[in-house]
Amino acid sequence: MNNALKKAVEKINQLPTIPEVAQRVLGAIDSEHTSTSELESIIVNDPTIASKVLSVSRTTFFGGNKPPESIKEAIVRIGFGNVKNIAVGISLMTLFDDKKRHLLDYETIFKHSLDVAYVTAIINRKLKVQSKGDIFLSALLHDIGYLAINCYFQEQYKEVLKECLAGSQLSDAEVHVLGFTHSEIGAWLASVWKLPEVVIEVIKCHHDISGSKNFSREVALIHIADFIAANAFFYVFKNDNSLNINKIALKEFNLNEEEVAKLQLEVIETSFT
Ligand SMILES: [Fe+2]
Ligand SMILES: [Fe+2]
Repeated sequence: MNNALKKAVEKINQLPTIPEVAQRVLGAIDSEHTSTSELESIIVNDPTIASKVLSVSRTTFFGGNKPPESIKEAIVRIGFGNVKNIAVGISLMTLFDDKKRHLLDYETIFKHSLDVAYVTAIINRKLKVQSKGDIFLSALLHDIGYLAINCYFQEQYKEVLKECLAGSQLSDAEVHVLGFTHSEIGAWLASVWKLPEVVIEVIKCHHDISGSKNFSREVALIHIADFIAANAFFYVFKNDNSLNINKIALKEFNLNEEEVAKLQLEVIETSFT
C-alpha cells in the first residue's frame, strides 16, 4: 500500500462493515450443502436487496428472453453462482448509497457498474472465456473505489475532476491530488472485506492491466467490458481512463480494434432487442 493511501484510510474511522446479507450469501457458498431454497431465503429476507438482485438478473442476463419472476426462478435460470455474486455485489455497493447527488455520485457509478456487468456477461459468452469464477462480482465491483471516494474524499475529488476538465487523464489527476487511484482504494476495501483474490486483482488492475499477476484473463475481460460500456452507453468523466483500450488486453483474446468495435455493436444491438 502506498503511503498516501495508508494515511488516507487511517482517517476513515467508520469503514462500513460487510452487510449481513452479503456475509450470509458468501457463507452459504462456502458450504457445499447449501440448497437453492436456503440461498433464496437469505436473499428474500432483505427485500431491498432482493428486488435489486431480481432487476439486475433480468437486465444482465436475458435481454429479450422472458425474465425471471422470482429469486428462486433466477437461481434456477441463471445459476446459483451468478445470483450469489449479484447479491454480494449489490449489497456492498448499497453500503455507499448516501442518497445525495454529487458530481461523482452513487447513482452514476451504480449505473456504470451494471453496464460493465451487462457487457461482461455478453462478451464472456462471445469470447468463450473460461473464467476462474466470480467474474460478475468483479465486474459489479470494479469501480467500488469511486463509491468510497464519494463518501470519504468528496472535497478533494472536486479538485480531481477540475484537473480532468482541464485535460488530465483521470488516474493521473487522482494520483496528483489524492496520492492514490480509485483502483487502489477499491482494492484495499475489497481486501479488508476479504473478497476473493480475483475480485481484488480486477479492481486493482482494471486500468493498469500489466500489474495483473494471477488473473490476467479476468482483468483483461473487465478492461475490455469497461471500454465497451464507456463507449456504448456512458462514461463517468471526461478523460475517463475507461475510454482507452490497452493492447495487452486485446492480445489476451487475440482481438484487434476492429473486432472490439464489432463486439461493441453487438452489445448495443443486444441491449435493444
Ligand atoms: Fe475504473
Ligand atoms: Fe469503470
